[in-house]
Amino acid sequence: MARLESFEKLVSLSKRRGFVFQSSEIYGGINACYDYGPLGVELKRNVKQAWWNAMTREHDNIVGLDAAILMHPKVWEASGHVGGFTDPLVDCKKCKTRFREDNLPEANMASKECPDCGGELTDSRQFNLMFKTQMGAVEDTASTIYLRPETAQGIFVNFPNVVDTSRQQIPFGIAQIGKAFRNEITPGNFIFRTREFEQMEMQFFVNPDDADEWFETWMERRKAFYDTIGINPDNLRFHEHGPDELAHYARAAFDVEYKFPIGWSELEGIHNRADFDLKQHAEFSGKNMSYRDPQTNQVYTPFIIETSAGCDRTTLAVMCEAYEEETLEDGSVRTVMHFHPKLAPIKVAILPLVKKGGLKELATEIKDSLKRHFNVFYDEKGAIGRRYRRMDEAGTPYCVTIDFDTLEDKAVTVRDRDSMDQIRVPIAELQAWLSERILIS
Ligand code: GAP
Repeated sequence: MARLESFEKLVSLSKRRGFVFQSSEIYGGINACYDYGPLGVELKRNVKQAWWNAMTREHDNIVGLDAAILMHPKVWEASGHVGGFTDPLVDCKKCKTRFREDNLPEANMASKECPDCGGELTDSRQFNLMFKTQMGAVEDTASTIYLRPETAQGIFVNFPNVVDTSRQQIPFGIAQIGKAFRNEITPGNFIFRTREFEQMEMQFFVNPDDADEWFETWMERRKAFYDTIGINPDNLRFHEHGPDELAHYARAAFDVEYKFPIGWSELEGIHNRADFDLKQHAEFSGKNMSYRDPQTNQVYTPFIIETSAGCDRTTLAVMCEAYEEETLEDGSVRTVMHFHPKLAPIKVAILPLVKKGGLKELATEIKDSLKRHFNVFYDEKGAIGRRYRRMDEAGTPYCVTIDFDTLEDKAVTVRDRDSMDQIRVPIAELQAWLSERILIS
């Protein structure tokens, strides 16, 4: 199967079928912000659900959290974001394009010439990526707060609350999915790097003596996760951070990278954050962030193993992995999204061959009986071949066709998206037949 060579075709399919739209498109769009359409929202929800199940439902010692986006400004001082969450920025005085200095070719940095128009570049300055806003009604007295640039800090500051209320003992984790905001200097590549995005983060609190072992465990678990959502292991790799690459808070780090059409790029970061975060918050808040082991009475500040995945990037990887332009025996080409059934936005399409002769009524009955179990799409318009093609582009694993034989034999034709094979399934067995194939883990 040929791999997707650029995002262009995916962007066009996304617009055509309703996966992803440019935000505020009727006003010309807003840079690096995207909206998920009817198919995209289902796909992204399924990605989040798969992650949530893998991280919480499958582990007795991981609980969930949904912290507020707006947090006390001191959080971002303690975390180091106010002082250090910056990228070096240079502007072109002529064409006004902004560049991250570390992305500029060396020759342009030396000559101070814009690579786009040859204009003069400004000196580099540090640019903080956090979005600022004001909390309070009167601007003069209102305090400056930030849209969170990561969900992690909401977890760290709630560590004592979760210990006090959840009966969890170390080792245990807290998982959260939520929006994050970064005023990226060079966003782009469709939904790969945006200014508003969603993260799926899990912070695992461990005894410092066990941190290295848990770091390895979480790397293996995260690797296994991508397999369960249909990512080919050949398109995944783990990149270990060298001493120069490590973030200020990290003792060890791996990036999970996916082979996107733009090349190997980060999907998720796995970090051993040591006791940096809890100690910082203890210092800045004056509160006790340590842990007393109920068995040994040992008191210590836990180390944290973090798994931090981008939801939009995972969704993008899933779309890249699924995309195929398949040449059929008759020479025609069909575009098909081979989503894992668990992630497919629509699970089953109900397609009466024609509207007349009682087929519409029977098809509606079947649709109503299935919709309690799956996301079902009903379509009665157009040639059946065209309807199949639409569902191939939506990535619908099964199309159920109701024809005149159905009235006699009480069976339907089920078409498999990937093989395009068709078989007859009795209506009485249809829901069980589909469940067996769609709800596989
Ligand atoms: N708490 C650690 C943390 O936030 P990060 O590497 O900065 O680490 C984690 O971000 C993940 O969030 C990345 O691997 C990526 O998938 C996603 N992410 C980060 N910035 C993003 C952006 N501008 N657009 C889309 N996803 C982004």
